[in-house]
Amino acid sequence: MKNTAVTFRQAKEKGEKLTMLTAYDYSTAKLVDGAGIHSILVGDSLGMVCLGYEDTLSVTMEDMLHHTKAVARGAKDALVIADMPFMSYQTSVYDAVVNAGRLIKEGHAQAVKLEGGKEVCPQIEAIVKASIPVCAHIGLTPQSIHAFGGFKVQGKGEEAAKKLLEEAQAVEAAGAFAVVLECVPEALAKLITDKIAIPTIGIGAGAGCDGQVLVYQDMLGMYADFTPKFVKVFAGVGEEMRKGFAAYKKEVQEGSFPAPEHTFKMDESILEKLY
Ligand code: KIV
Repeated sequence: MKNTAVTFRQAKEKGEKLTMLTAYDYSTAKLVDGAGIHSILVGDSLGMVCLGYEDTLSVTMEDMLHHTKAVARGAKDALVIADMPFMSYQTSVYDAVVNAGRLIKEGHAQAVKLEGGKEVCPQIEAIVKASIPVCAHIGLTPQSIHAFGGFKVQGKGEEAAKKLLEEAQAVEAAGAFAVVLECVPEALAKLITDKIAIPTIGIGAGAGCDGQVLVYQDMLGMYADFTPKFVKVFAGVGEEMRKGFAAYKKEVQEGSFPAPEHTFKMDESILEKLY
C-alpha cells in the first residue's frame, strides 16, 4: 500500500514508528522500497554523498529533479519526499511554490521537505495551499551551516530549547505533515514529539521521536568522509564493495575473469574464414 502524508499522521495516532531512508537513484530506491521502508527522502545530502561537495549548499534544483525522477521510478509503496535545495524557497513564497511544484510535476515526488522554522512558515502555508504536502526540518539545518558556525547540536540551552519547541509548533500550525528533528537532545525531541500532533522524524534526536531517518550511505558504511555520532552502521556494505572491486581487479589481471560461462560463442567455421 502506498504510504502518504495521511498515513504518516495515522501512524502517529496508532503509535507506529515510521522509517525513512535517503536514496538518490533507481536501484537503491527499489531496494529501500522492497525492504518496506515507509518513506524515501531524496535529500540534498546528495551534494555530499553523491556529488562530493563539502556541504549541501551547492545543490541545484536541476540536481534534485534529476535524482528525484530516478527515485520515483523505483519507489512503489514508499512516500517519495524531495528536498528543496538552498535558495529554492528562501528567496520568496512565489519561488517556494514554483519550485515545490517542479519537484512534484517534473520530479514525481509526492511531498517536499524544506529547512527552517517560523521564518519559512509563509512558504509552508503557500505550498500546502497548492496541495503539496510539506515535511519541515528543524534543529541542525545543514543549509544554515555558515550561520550556525558548523555542524552542532541544537536546542541545548533554555532559550534555544524553548525556541525549538516554538518552531515545531509553528511548522505544525503552518500545515506541515511531519517534521524532521536533526541533532537535538533526546529529552527535548521527546518533549516536542509529545506536544505536537504531526510525526517527528529524528536524526540524532533519540528514540523518543515518532520515526527515524538516516542517510543510506552512512548506515551501510559507504561514506567515510564524515561520520556523525548518531550514525549506526547496519551492514558493512562499503567494505564489501571495496572487497568486490579488489577481487574484480585481481581476476582481470590474472586472466580468470571473464570465465567461459561469461562469454558468447560463435560457429568456428565462420571464424576460420576471417583468418
Ligand atoms: O538531506 C538529507 O539527507 C536530510 C536528512 C539528513 C534528514 O535532510
